[in-house]
Amino acid sequence: MPHVPDTYPLYLNNRAVQPNADLAVTDKFTGEVAFRVALATPDIIEAAIAGAERAAPAMAAMASYERQAVLDHCVKRFRERFDELAWALCIEAGKPLADAEGEVTRLIDTFRIAAEEATRNYGEVQPLDISPRAKGYLGMWKRVPIGPCSFISPFNFPLNLAAHKIAPAIAVGCPFVMKPASLTPLGAIIIGEVLAETNLPEGAFSILPASRDGADLFTTDERLKLLSFTGSPEVGWALKAKAGKKKVVLELGGNAAVVIDRDADLDHALARVVFGGYYQSGQSCIHVQRVIVHEDIYDTFRDRLVAKVKALKSGDPKSRETFIGPMISVKEAQRLKGWIDQAVAGGATLLAGGGCEGAMLEATLVENCGRDTDLYREEAFGPAVILSRFRTWHEAIAEVNDSKFGLQAGLFTRDIHKVLDAWDRLEVGGIVVNDVSSYRVDNMPYGGVKDSGLGREGVRFAMEDMTEIRNLVIRRDG
Ligand code: SIN
Repeated sequence: MPHVPDTYPLYLNNRAVQPNADLAVTDKFTGEVAFRVALATPDIIEAAIAGAERAAPAMAAMASYERQAVLDHCVKRFRERFDELAWALCIEAGKPLADAEGEVTRLIDTFRIAAEEATRNYGEVQPLDISPRAKGYLGMWKRVPIGPCSFISPFNFPLNLAAHKIAPAIAVGCPFVMKPASLTPLGAIIIGEVLAETNLPEGAFSILPASRDGADLFTTDERLKLLSFTGSPEVGWALKAKAGKKKVVLELGGNAAVVIDRDADLDHALARVVFGGYYQSGQSCIHVQRVIVHEDIYDTFRDRLVAKVKALKSGDPKSRETFIGPMISVKEAQRLKGWIDQAVAGGATLLAGGGCEGAMLEATLVENCGRDTDLYREEAFGPAVILSRFRTWHEAIAEVNDSKFGLQAGLFTRDIHKVLDAWDRLEVGGIVVNDVSSYRVDNMPYGGVKDSGLGREGVRFAMEDMTEIRNLVIRRDG
């Protein structure tokens, strides 16, 4: 077990500060307090926003190779601290070690991509002579940093979803204040510890665990020019309503569907559905919640899936054997257990799981689930999967779209015509062919439509949101 301290500071204007240790962070498996972390007061949040505003010109003036060097330093340090980072995630988020290590690998990827993109913040030259009145005029535009940013990151990927905001901000030269999730603040704090080793201008970053009540300024303060929030749809849309003039990016939830057509490679599809439905106890916005299977292969697929789900090993996430660890809290496990019970009471058939003890919810699989149930309509955000059957391709597409969400969808088929049709007609931000909705590489555009959010992350796309186009027009004969 790597050595990890039991008390952590917050980061105010690039420096570690320990005004208190008021935030208790529990080990999500044992429920015991594992770390204590400083909690930002309203005064500290105000000082951080003022610091970010002061730092904006110096951040914008950094050369791209200097921003790249900061990001490269982070990559190096995250590699050196790999085991410690994975261990912290395993404790604070209850992530089984393999999932925790996977997240650290992705954290490194995200910073590596940002280091590359930092030197590619290109603009364009645009001929303006489209009519006689513009003859002799030349246009060109470049991207300039939007200014101080406000970031609110979620509990389910404490490192990598914080990284998806922090790394692009550094790549373009925006100072930022971040509020990490109170249940899992360590990931972002450790990123702060590494950033504090660099020569970013004072005020470039503040990482401030804060209670939700005390954190209004992250949303309302007009000195902050962009709010990027990842978390639940209810909270995200409510924050947007309070965000005033700032640009808002929302990465919210989903109840992703995967279609298994009759020509799919069943062994592969089964393995991937088990992964996408249950890894890190289903606590991902692109977790496989609805699996829609062609009727010709439905019974075989179901019986094989049931056997695989029942064989999943649950327990202490610190053990290498464990696949299913705890959910983030007892409250969340009970919420989802309630939805499963309600669906079963309404006629759904429980094929596996359904039991819950503390924060440990069993890997659950149901069929015949009513489409009006919370389990079907809302975001499960836990280890529960619904199976249903389709007859025609049209029915499958309609069922995927029968959701208020639209983040990602998976499609197992070898038919290119169906792939292209789905690409046209599925109401989602991304489609993954021959893999599950949960698949993500950190440089791809990632985000949703409908209630799933606004804007895209995936370093280059976040960089676009964090910059504004500044146009220049030149009259050649002036
Ligand atoms: C999310 O839960 O929104 C992120 C999923 C991922 O990055 O894999």
